[in-house]
Amino acid sequence: MIATRFFSVRFALCSLIAQALLLCFASPVYAANDPAAVPSVAEQPDSLQWFRDARLGIFIHWGIYSEGKDSESWAFHDGHMPHDEYFAQAKTFTAANYRPAEWAALFKEAGARYAVLTSKHHDGFALWPTRLSKLNAVDGAPAGRDLVGPYCDAMRAAGIKVGLYFSHLDWSQPDYPSILPPEAKGAAKPDYKNVWGYPQGPENPEAWKRFLAFHRGQLEELSTRYRPDLFWFDGDWERSADQWHFAELRQQLKQWNPAVILNSRMGGHGDYETPEQFLPLAAPKSPWEFCVTINDSWGYQKKDHNYKTVRQVVRLLAECANFGGNMLLDVGPLSDGTLQPEQVQVLKGLGRWTHQHAEALYGTTAGIPPGYFLGTSTLSPKRDILYLYYFDRPLGPVPLKGIRNKIRRISVVGGPELTYSINGGAAWLKLPGIIWMNLPDTAIDPDATVIKVELDGPLDLVPMSKPANP
Ligand code: GLC
Repeated sequence: MIATRFFSVRFALCSLIAQALLLCFASPVYAANDPAAVPSVAEQPDSLQWFRDARLGIFIHWGIYSEGKDSESWAFHDGHMPHDEYFAQAKTFTAANYRPAEWAALFKEAGARYAVLTSKHHDGFALWPTRLSKLNAVDGAPAGRDLVGPYCDAMRAAGIKVGLYFSHLDWSQPDYPSILPPEAKGAAKPDYKNVWGYPQGPENPEAWKRFLAFHRGQLEELSTRYRPDLFWFDGDWERSADQWHFAELRQQLKQWNPAVILNSRMGGHGDYETPEQFLPLAAPKSPWEFCVTINDSWGYQKKDHNYKTVRQVVRLLAECANFGGNMLLDVGPLSDGTLQPEQVQVLKGLGRWTHQHAEALYGTTAGIPPGYFLGTSTLSPKRDILYLYYFDRPLGPVPLKGIRNKIRRISVVGGPELTYSINGGAAWLKLPGIIWMNLPDTAIDPDATVIKVELDGPLDLVPMSKPANP
């Protein structure tokens, strides 16, 4: 026993030293692309647990585009704005009113459990002082300081998990548009004519290797300096997963930072899916998150006033929870770091609702299908409490079908106990009657009312496949 413990302590020490040596001496980067050079990483089955329970995150798109003229990065890529004019916006990127502790307090008030900041968007402008490019908040803008470190510290101090967005592709690196994806051979897709993404002459595999070294180098900086809980990748679509060496990158990232979790935008080598702007119509199979803007833009845009209401945002969140997913709600601060008042109002309104309904949201699992209840729902971890989300004002009792359990109590979360009656059913076939719940007008929440149905044990539902009563 003692010998085993001694051996395992010694083994752990050796592996720590080996890892430290690897961090100090290995060219971080490229060795990572040789699978034989990377010791296998023990997967961390629990590292996703906080994410599964989190339900709400705040996405922050902030960069030189936050002057508000046009969209982040796409503005010059798509030719809405000349390249020079786009990059001239860096002159107004002051971060003069950047107070990340205030962001953290607001996100906490909204009920967020994690946040994700754009450390570098497709334009290649980094918010941290990367040693690998002058395009960064210290060397390339009046901000003149690291913006990632203070964000990480402020979020951590508020108990919010730290996520960093990072675009794999970089439309500012001359080595980036150096090779075509394999499917390009012989195909005449108009995208391949874009100078920022693709070579316009012969391919240059050496340049691509240099770009990958740069890419890995920046990720090593972020991983080892800031130790994010989550990497939110983007921009994987212009090359294949093999060209990016994503399988090896996954191992490398988990070696630098064993508990880090990765979204799926690395050619499928991530830990969870992130559908964008369109809510899934059926429950995704793997852990997931829905990323969505508060208005119609990721970064701040002066012309965009199409804000979602608190009620709409609550509804989106409820639909995510219904399928066991999270919502990552995006805000776009201005160049000086202030948040638009409309966005602050939505976050505060959302917070009123999330705090009042916390038990029905955080740490719950997916609810029951709409055939049983015409609304969304969640279940407590022990599956003995069913939370029914109701978005309207009922004209009569609210029905719930197919519950075989005995009901212990029905109430409104943060409100009164409800009366109910049960009728119908075919007891001899174990088909329960319909539960009709009386929801008084005074118990209705303006954004979403949650009815709490306490059961005598884990939920026992009539299976959906049950043949109709013959
Ligand atoms: C899309 C947009 C990008 C944005 C991202 C967030 O990929 O192109 O600009 O950052 O969505 O999910």
